[in-house]
Amino acid sequence: MNIDFDALRREGLAQIEAASDAQSIEQLRIDWLGKKGRITELFKQMGTMTPNARRAFGEEINAVKDALAEALETRAAAFNEAELARRLASESIDVTLPGRGEGVGGLHPVTRTIRRIESIFNSMGFETVEGPEIEDDWHNFQALNIPESHPARAMQDTFYLLNGARLLRTHTSPVQIRTMQARKPPIRIICPGRVYRVDFDRTHSPMFHQVEGLYVAENVSLADLKYDLQKFLSLFFERDAEAMFRPSYFPFVEPGADVHMKWGDRWLELLGCGVVHPNVLAAVGIDPERYSGYAFGMGAERLAMLRYGVDDLRLFFNNDLRFLEQFR
Ligand code: FA5
Repeated sequence: MNIDFDALRREGLAQIEAASDAQSIEQLRIDWLGKKGRITELFKQMGTMTPNARRAFGEEINAVKDALAEALETRAAAFNEAELARRLASESIDVTLPGRGEGVGGLHPVTRTIRRIESIFNSMGFETVEGPEIEDDWHNFQALNIPESHPARAMQDTFYLLNGARLLRTHTSPVQIRTMQARKPPIRIICPGRVYRVDFDRTHSPMFHQVEGLYVAENVSLADLKYDLQKFLSLFFERDAEAMFRPSYFPFVEPGADVHMKWGDRWLELLGCGVVHPNVLAAVGIDPERYSGYAFGMGAERLAMLRYGVDDLRLFFNNDLRFLEQFR
C-alpha cells in the first residue's frame, strides 16, 4: 500500500493550524485520532501486511500520529490559556469604582414613640416594668373587677388560647395586678407592651401597644392623675396640649375617664384612666382604707399618629419602606 505520510502529516498539521477554537481542536482530535479517526483506520490495515512491511508502516504512521497529537495538545493548551485570560479580564472587579452606598436603618416610629413616653415618665419618677403577653383570665379580667359574664368583657374582643385556659392580654392593666402583688406601696410604674384584640380599622389594629401607668400611695387623687397626664401630654407634644377629659367607664376604676385630643376636625381617643377601684386594691391585698391610686392605659400608636400626623394607624404595620423612611 502506497501512502504519502508526509502529505498526510502536512494536511493534519494545516487543519490544526487553521482551527479557531478549543472546540474545533477537539473535533480534529476525534477526526484524526479518535476510534474511527483517519490514523486509527490506517493502523487497522496493518493486520494484512507482511512483518517487514508492517514494521516500516508502523514507524511512519506512529511518527505522523505523534506529530499530530503534539500539535493538537499545544493548540488546545493555547486556546485554554486564552479563554482563562479572557475570563479573568471580564470577571475582574474595578475597585476604584464608587460604591452603591449603604442603606441606613432607623427605629420604627412606634418604637420611638414608646421610648419617648418612657423617658418622660421615667423623668417624672415612674419606673418601667414589663409583664407577659400571654395571660390568664384572673389577671386580665377578674382581679380587675371584671367577673365572668360581666358585660365589660364584651368591650374588648379577646383572642383565647388553649380552649380558653389562656388568652392574649387585651390591655396592659394585668401588669398593675402583678406589680401590686409583688410590691408594697408607694408604687409608681409604667408598663409598655403589646396587646391584642379582635379589632381592625383606621384607628384600630389587632395587635397594638399600650403604656400602662399606675401610682399607688397614700392620698392619691383624681387631681394628681389629671395634673400628671396634662404635664405628660405637654412634654410629649412640646406644646400646651389641648386635651379633653371625658367621663368614662372601666370596672377597675372609679371614677373613670377617657382623654381625647384634636385630630383634624375630630377628637381622637388616646387613653383610658381613673382612680383605682377599691375592689382591685383588695384583690391584691392592699388596704383600700389606707391607700389609693390612679391608673391609665394609653395607646402608643394613637400618640404616634398625632405626633407624626399619620391618618391611618394600619400604616405603622404595613412595613412599607417609603413610609418608614420618613421617620429616620
Ligand atoms: C383599656 O385598655 C384600659 N385598660 C385603659 C385603662 C387603664 C383605663 C387603667 C383605666 C385605668 P381602652 O380599651 O379604651 O382601655 O384602650 C386604651 C387605649 O388603647 C385607647 O384609648 C386607644 O388609644 C388604644 N386602643 C384601643 N384599642 C385599640 C386598637 N385596636 N388599636 C390601636 N389602639 C387601640
